[in-house]
Amino acid sequence: MYKKQLENPILKASFEKILAGNEEWVKQVKEDTTGKLQQLAQGQSPELLWIGCADSRVPANQITNTLPGEVFVHRNIANMCVHSDMNMLSVLDYAVNVLKVKHIIVAGHYGCGGVSAALSRNQFGIIDNWLCHIKDVYRFHSDEIDAIEDEVQKVNRLVELNVAEQVFNLCTTSIVQNAWKERNDLAVHGMVIDIATGKLIDLNITFTDSLGLGKVFAFK
Ligand code: CO
Repeated sequence: MYKKQLENPILKASFEKILAGNEEWVKQVKEDTTGKLQQLAQGQSPELLWIGCADSRVPANQITNTLPGEVFVHRNIANMCVHSDMNMLSVLDYAVNVLKVKHIIVAGHYGCGGVSAALSRNQFGIIDNWLCHIKDVYRFHSDEIDAIEDEVQKVNRLVELNVAEQVFNLCTTSIVQNAWKERNDLAVHGMVIDIATGKLIDLNITFTDSLGLGKVFAFK
């Protein structure tokens, strides 16, 4: 098989760092005395689905101090739950109906670049169309956001409101609502990470049934 040699020394060094990191991980798996890491090859039974931002500073496992096998993860720019996103819906369906997760956390984070970009009028490329979903959230709450003078606080408040909206979007899917018809052990939570401290802050936006969704949204 053809293998491209990395000729650029900086590129090569950077790639070797990734491989060296994996060598370290392989050692940890081999030396794990609990046996948990070796057992991962047999299957997974995570209790949590994490829907977070793609930002490199908010990895689900580190934030929740969990091991591989404990969190099923979907991440995208600004932790969006877009009704027609087949990628998100597929992850959600598998997590809810096959893995039978008990908790779904939509995890936003303060200082989110996606939310910040959505609050500007600048063009960033194709992502502008994705960010329009966040601009929609701003539109629902423009009075509140516009009243905040501090730019950082403006972004952080929209981060919170966006999480609330994405939790609502998740709960209105047929996937989550049908799961609630079948079982009473599925909760959807809205949370925000404070990157400066690592703290996962509960926004107390939690749904365990479709009662609070309103007439049009709650399916029969
Ligand atoms: Co972000």
